[in-house]
Amino acid sequence: MNSLWLDSVSKNISFSSLPENKKAQVCIIGAGIFGLTCAYYLTKLGYHVIVLEKDDIGEKATGHTTGKITSQHSLFYDYLIQSYGEKFAKDYLSANEQAIQDIQNIIQEEKIKCDFALENSYVYTTKNSELRAIKKEISALDSLGFHSEFVTKLGLPFEIEGAICFKNQAQFHPLKYLYGLASSITNRNGEIFTHTTVTDVQKEDDSYVVFTNHHTVVADFVIMASHYPFINFPGFYFTKMYQSTSYLIAVDTKKTLPHGMYINFTNPIFSYRTARYKGKDILLIGGGEHKTGQPTCYQDSYGLLEEEAFRYYPDAEILYRWNTRDCISLDKLPYVGIYSSMMPNVFVGTGFKKWGMTLTNVAANIIVDEICGKQNPYQYLFRSTRLKPLKNHDEMKNILVQSTTSLFFDKLKLSPMQFEDIANNSGGIVEINHEKVGIYKDENGKIYAVKPICTHLGCLLSWNDVDKTWDCPCHGSRFDYQGKNLYDPAFKDLDFYVLDS
Ligand code: FES
Repeated sequence: MNSLWLDSVSKNISFSSLPENKKAQVCIIGAGIFGLTCAYYLTKLGYHVIVLEKDDIGEKATGHTTGKITSQHSLFYDYLIQSYGEKFAKDYLSANEQAIQDIQNIIQEEKIKCDFALENSYVYTTKNSELRAIKKEISALDSLGFHSEFVTKLGLPFEIEGAICFKNQAQFHPLKYLYGLASSITNRNGEIFTHTTVTDVQKEDDSYVVFTNHHTVVADFVIMASHYPFINFPGFYFTKMYQSTSYLIAVDTKKTLPHGMYINFTNPIFSYRTARYKGKDILLIGGGEHKTGQPTCYQDSYGLLEEEAFRYYPDAEILYRWNTRDCISLDKLPYVGIYSSMMPNVFVGTGFKKWGMTLTNVAANIIVDEICGKQNPYQYLFRSTRLKPLKNHDEMKNILVQSTTSLFFDKLKLSPMQFEDIANNSGGIVEINHEKVGIYKDENGKIYAVKPICTHLGCLLSWNDVDKTWDCPCHGSRFDYQGKNLYDPAFKDLDFYVLDS
C-alpha cells in the first residue's frame, strides 16, 4: 500500500529520464529531500544543476517519513554532551533549530502549500523508572541555554509520568514540500531526470563522469544524495551504517485528536502526529522498529500499531499502512562532506537516522557552502571522513557481526525449509541441486524463484513476509519477490530462476 504522502500529493510537474549525454556544474544523485534541498540552494545561487533519480522524486525515504521537523531527536542532548562536549551539543541543537527556520523561510518564499504547521514536540514516558532520564535530558538542555519544559499532561489518550516539551517545532506534508522545491529548481533552470539509474562515478581530468543506465553527465561537482551511498570503494560507508525499518499507519476516528508530535524512548516505541486528509485531521502512529533484514511478522509491525490505535480509538479506521527505512551510523551522527579524501569534489550526506527533515537541511547548507568555498560553522559536527574509536557496541554489533554472519556463515548453513513447507502468499529459502533458491508462492500457488544473494556485496537475503520482499540483513537493500531492486545500496536486480516442473 502507498504511504499517505505518496497517495495525496498532486504531481504537478513530470520528469523524463536522462535523454542524452549532458554537462552541468553540479550533478546530484538522488531526488529525495536532501538532494532537492541541495539543488534548491545551488540553483538559487545560479549554479547549473542536474539531478538524477532512480525512481520518482521522493518515492522512497522522503515519501515514507513521518514528516516531523524538529530539533528534538528523542533523548539526545545528554548523550551528545557526554560524548562530545557542550559546544558540540549546542552547535547540533542550533543547527537543527536553524533548519526549522530555513524550511519555514523556503516555504514562505516559494509559496509552497505543504500543510506546514508549527507544533510542540514531546518526548514522554509512561514509566516512573524512566523519569530520571527525562530529568537528565532537561538538565543537559538547561546547560546548553535551551528552554525546554517538563510537563505531566499531554493531549494523548493515556496518562504519562512526564515529558519534555520543545516549543515551536513543526510538521508538514513532505512530498508536497518536495514537489514545491522541484518547481522552484526547474524554474531556475535546474534539470531533474527520473527513472535514471546511476551505476558509477569516475574522475576524468578535472571533472567527474556520472554513468547511468544509458547516458552520462559530466560535472565539476557531484553530490551523492541517494539514501545509502552505493559506491563501496573508496568511502566504505557499508562498514559504517546499517538500515532500520519502522512502520506507520494513518488512522481516522471521530474522537478528538491530540495536536503536537509525540514519541517515547524505550521499547515498544510509539510516535504520534496528526496530518491533514480530505479536509480533516487524521492520526499517524509509528513504531515497530527493527534492523532491516531481520525477521518480523505482521503482529510485531503493523499489528502492533493497529492494536495501539484500537486500544484508544475503538472506532479507528486504518486508512494507510506503510514502512520506512533509516540509515543509522555507528556514532548516531550523519556523514556530511567529501565522499572520500580520494574523491575531492564528490560530496555525501547520509545517516540522518529518523530525523532527516531537519538534518538534511543542515547537510545541504554544509555541502553548498563547501562547493562555494565558504566555511560552515556546523561542518565539523558531521565530518564524513571522521575516524573515531568505536564506543557504541550495540551499533557495531548491528553492522559488523550480523553482516559477517550473513555474508559468510549463513550461506554455508543447510536450509531448514523444504519446498512444500512454503505456504501460498509466503516465501523462504530452499535448496535445489545444492543451490540456495529464494521461493515465493503467490495467493494462487504460482512460484517465483530468485537467487537470494544480495547484488550489493553478496549477503544472503531473508524473506520479509510482511511486505513480500527479499531484504538484506547487511546494509538493508530490498528486492521485490520477482527480484526487482527496490532500495539501495544495491542497484542491480536479483537473478531469477526458471524452475523445471
Ligand atoms: Fe550490502 Fe546487501 S545491502 S550486501
